[in-house]
Amino acid sequence: MQISDRGGRIGGQAMFDLLIIAKEQERKGESIIHLELGEPAAPPPSEVVRATKEAIERGKVGYTPPAGIHELREAIAELMSDVGFGFAVDIDDIAVVTANLSLFQLLSILCDPGEKVATFCPFFPTYSLAIAYAQATPHVVDLDPNNGFKLTIENVREALDSGAKVIIVNSCNNPTGVVYDDEVLLYLFCEAKKLGVWVISDSTYEFLRYKNNFCCSESHKLQAHENVVHLYSFSKLFNVPGYRLGFIVCADKGLMSKMIASNSALISCHSEFTQLGVLAGIPELRPFAANQARYYSNVVAEIGVAWPTLLDCIEAEPSSGFYLFLPIHYMIKGLT
Ligand SMILES: Cc1ncc(COP(=O)(O)O)c(C=O)c1O
Repeated sequence: MQISDRGGRIGGQAMFDLLIIAKEQERKGESIIHLELGEPAAPPPSEVVRATKEAIERGKVGYTPPAGIHELREAIAELMSDVGFGFAVDIDDIAVVTANLSLFQLLSILCDPGEKVATFCPFFPTYSLAIAYAQATPHVVDLDPNNGFKLTIENVREALDSGAKVIIVNSCNNPTGVVYDDEVLLYLFCEAKKLGVWVISDSTYEFLRYKNNFCCSESHKLQAHENVVHLYSFSKLFNVPGYRLGFIVCADKGLMSKMIASNSALISCHSEFTQLGVLAGIPELRPFAANQARYYSNVVAEIGVAWPTLLDCIEAEPSSGFYLFLPIHYMIKGLT
């Protein structure tokens, strides 16, 4: 039987293919060190666990509004206003999403087939899957390893000049851990606005910066551009990737209403007990994220002491998150 062309274009995340193999080996009794996914090793905050359990016990297992429960959106709006987002963030500027899925939703809403989506490489692999799914055309701007994979004004110009309808930028970056300069991000947001280009600013690791964590970067503070969609995820903030919860912040009402419609059409809603769980953690988010960032930066420092040659040979030293972007030749040679 034939499937459609569209169906043929659907690809999966390669790291989940690895997870399937690793889990199978584990099931057969092998001892596996899991490096295939960005899975935090530490447990979630106790408030999150307690509130999730309580919510289940209280029968909070029904449907919820597709934008997320009011209390969670309200708490996120307050949090974002509090960290100095630059415009008074209102509950209507927030929608609860699943971060990974939201990339597919956003590109389907923002692009017509054939329109260009620019990304800066290296990037999170879902970007190319979502671009293919939306039948858009990728334009990949390569960042320079000799410049530590930083984003430059020239890189931004190339993305803007490509005629892209949407530009996806990810600072703090997965996989390099590099935090892009504020001025460059701000330049991107402003110039894109002038040209009517949408920007998806994937800030999944924004609050896991080793320095100045949990304060929005200047580019976030200064801009109140309706053309920018800021994407966050609770997965790595609260060590709850299985909850599948994140949120977007965007001042464009038209886009927000379509995202909520898309949530409603595709998944109906997010589960109530997970939302109540993360809601209980929000007052603890700042100290928890700060602690995590401190821990990750110490791990990187310890790795640097244990294997100095390793950090010498990576072109991008991470300053956020928990990834090390290793050159493949080093991995093949092995750690010596
Ligand atoms: C840069 C980036 N964006 C988005 C996501 C998706 O987040 P989630 O797993 O919470 O959907 C991830 C997950 O690792 C990521 O690293």
